[in-house]
Amino acid sequence: MNEHELPLLPPQVELESIAVLKQLARANRALAELKGYSDTIPNKHILLNAVMINEAKDSSAIENIITTHNDLYKAMSEASGASPAAKEVVNYRTALWRGYELVKDHDMLTTNMVIEMQGILEKNEAGIRKLPGTVLRNETTGETIYTPPAGETLLRALLHNLEQYMNETEDAVDPLIKLAVIHYQFESIHPFYDGNGRTGRIINVLYLVMKGLLDSPILYLSRYIIRNKSAYYRHLQSVRIHQEWEDWIIYMLAGVEETAKESLVLVKKINAELERMREEIRERLPKLYSMELVDLLFYEFYTKITYIEKGLSVTRKTAANYLSTLEKEGFLVSEKVGKERIYQNKRLYDLVKNDI
Ligand SMILES: Nc1ncnc2c1ncn2[C@@H]1O[C@H](COP(=O)(O)OP(=O)(O)OP(=O)(O)O)[C@@H](O)[C@H]1O
Ligand SMILES: [Mg+2]
Repeated sequence: MNEHELPLLPPQVELESIAVLKQLARANRALAELKGYSDTIPNKHILLNAVMINEAKDSSAIENIITTHNDLYKAMSEASGASPAAKEVVNYRTALWRGYELVKDHDMLTTNMVIEMQGILEKNEAGIRKLPGTVLRNETTGETIYTPPAGETLLRALLHNLEQYMNETEDAVDPLIKLAVIHYQFESIHPFYDGNGRTGRIINVLYLVMKGLLDSPILYLSRYIIRNKSAYYRHLQSVRIHQEWEDWIIYMLAGVEETAKESLVLVKKINAELERMREEIRERLPKLYSMELVDLLFYEFYTKITYIEKGLSVTRKTAANYLSTLEKEGFLVSEKVGKERIYQNKRLYDLVKNDI
């Protein structure tokens, strides 16, 4: 076969081998547990930002965009002086949020949504590749590993086929197996000049949301990929060269299982911390306490006077007062960044940061 020819979906092979089905059951079980738990949390969206920042950080690290939590937190607070890497990670999370909104609203995952997310991620409007010349190379040897299809018409046709496969109402195989197929296909189409890996990893979680396997993009799957990065590249290549789907699918299913379990542990920890702080603030600062206030403290690693002012509809003075009281009582640690003072929720910050 000409190496530019990428077969359309669905793959013309039996994907549901016994080994695949065994791993599938485990992955589904772990995922159901994560979903079940997060369904019981009243304000689960509050916990999302924290989990998503780790996912964004690790997914970006696969592309060697390395940053620290400290830098990230500056970038998130829009302070000047944040590193370019941290800004990219924040863009990643913005793209993920946007995609989540779109999938929730439309119950579909379309090519246009994917293009929009990649635009947010890369902060440019280049869209689908128009010029030839994109090749995937081995990072160390420089040798060409794969030449993806070229030409906008062909890329659009392949994306259209992928879109149909993703949005089928009657799935011939389990959605988790399809997840592996979709990720392979998307990476092989490689529709953009850059950001294909990250966009593809955003699609992974959004697909799970669309299929109702998760209620929010809370799965921390990129961490597994970064831990098993050489296997990731190797499997993608074996599917291409040897149609070795089984190992690839098992690799991805094992990733879903492993990270569903880990994400559950993290979400539980954050939730427990939130409850603990709720209790403490209620007891020690009853006049200031409200559920909404504590929620706001967990929305990000940090907060600002304006967030409290808007979030609680109080005056700036009251908001400033709340935050300085909370700092005095040891709940927050403030820092002057640029012109603004930002208040870090150190317990949340440490928890998320140490979750490596
Ligand atoms: N042999 C291969 N076949 C198909 N896709 C591959 C292969 N090798 C790598 N890829 C995909 O290409 C991605 C890299 O593409 P690109 O640089 O456009 O994305 P990125 O998001 O900028 O980078 P990264 O994925 O490294 O974070 C890899 O993450 C992987 O998903
Ligand atoms: Mg890249």
